[in-house]
Amino acid sequence: MPSFKRAESGELTVDGTPVSALVEEFQTPAYVFSEDTFRARATEFRSAFETAFAAHGAEVSVYYAGKSFLTTAVAKWAEDEGLYLDTASGGELALAQRAGVPGERIALHGNNKSVAEIRRALDYGVGRIVADSVPEVQIIASIAAEMGLVAPVMLRVTPGVHASTHDFIATAHEDQKFGQSMAAGTAPLAGLTVVELNELGITAEDAYATVAVALAHRSESIDLRGLHCHIGSQIFEADGFGAAAQKVLTYMQQLNERFGFVLPEIDLGGGYGIGYTEQDAPRGSAEIATELADMVSKTCANVGMAIPHLSFEPGRSISGPSGITLYTVGTIKNVAIEDENGDTRVRRYVSVDGGMSDNPRPVLYESDYAVTLANREPAGEQILSRVVGKHCESGDIVIRYCYLPADLAAGDILAVPGTGAYNHVMSSNYNYLTRPPVIATSGAKAPRAIVRRETEEDMLARDLGLV
Ligand code: LLP
Repeated sequence: MPSFKRAESGELTVDGTPVSALVEEFQTPAYVFSEDTFRARATEFRSAFETAFAAHGAEVSVYYAGKSFLTTAVAKWAEDEGLYLDTASGGELALAQRAGVPGERIALHGNNKSVAEIRRALDYGVGRIVADSVPEVQIIASIAAEMGLVAPVMLRVTPGVHASTHDFIATAHEDQKFGQSMAAGTAPLAGLTVVELNELGITAEDAYATVAVALAHRSESIDLRGLHCHIGSQIFEADGFGAAAQKVLTYMQQLNERFGFVLPEIDLGGGYGIGYTEQDAPRGSAEIATELADMVSKTCANVGMAIPHLSFEPGRSISGPSGITLYTVGTIKNVAIEDENGDTRVRRYVSVDGGMSDNPRPVLYESDYAVTLANREPAGEQILSRVVGKHCESGDIVIRYCYLPADLAAGDILAVPGTGAYNHVMSSNYNYLTRPPVIATSGAKAPRAIVRRETEEDMLARDLGLV
């Protein structure tokens, strides 16, 4: 049953609860997150990937990318649904620990992990640490040695493919901060002396990533599990994922031949796009998984290797469609604009009680969202509108272009769907606004706050006053 539905009265409901009841109990702005949808999407993704790869005799682990949306409850739901958890910092790891997610089901990422973060991960016994660079391999090796442990490590590589998405969230081309280059001739950039490279059997023609592999392989405190890549986020086309998988698998086979070992795993990251507006055409998890499984299996056959154990790290595609944000309409005003024919038209500016502090994505990535009148039927004449926040800058736009009913009035509730990913986790206190609560809904339970609304006291607690 869909979680977001109009009741007969015309009002929007979430897992059976009318938004007016949610607003009465929890006020606005509020993130409303459907536990039912999250669990269903998590399970759907996991089984789609498991089934598609099982058809080729391969095994899969699906990690939920916690960076997209994480609370203690959410970490637990992901685990309940059989997903592993991808964490990107000591803070995310702390939350996973608090939720009781077992260490072996957690991976730690990041391009600049602190010593404390690595120590914490090793101490908790995380299943994988994804090393982003040669210096990180060295640091992980020395911390693990000092702790008398063997660190299970994946090496993040840069596939060198172009992912069609916003520049800020594309991570596969060479000139960006993530991963180690697989390009021949980049080994001298690894920062080791010629003598050190010689000792590892590395030449100037080798790749930067090969230095990391050699170092990890030689270290007794690292158990090198395989390679990792992630090409970017909010991607619809399959080509980028396929091209990256092909490049990494081919390189992996070269390493296997070169070093005489078999790296048993590959992690192909996340990045599957979701529909924010009607213009977006996301593909289903089964279609994505089948396509990827075919590509991986073909590539492995071509390069003559057995299909390694595969991992995937979807975040947005699980959490994004599970959440909506509720806002209350405040001031409404008309502004004269010139259309493309030079004619004067009116654009209605609708202000709401949140904005770029609860959803920074429009201002960061020019992201588009849809919006709907939620407390009643959005009927009658529709007027060209722009929904804006209450922050002190003109870029504080929630919805750039939309049509909303002519009789929209202060006090009406607007719902913005698709805000389950990268909203709550990227929220701020800009202009000293308190951050909204996260309300979880489910058909089986009464709606409840899983993150409470921030109070002014919370917000001011770190300001030490007139010291
Ligand atoms: N794995 C790795 C290594 C990642 O860096 C990411 C996202 C994911 C998995 C999950 O990607 P997803 O399936 O959610 O696309 N703040 C940006 C998105 C940043 C993505 C960062 N990494 C946004 O709001 O669009």
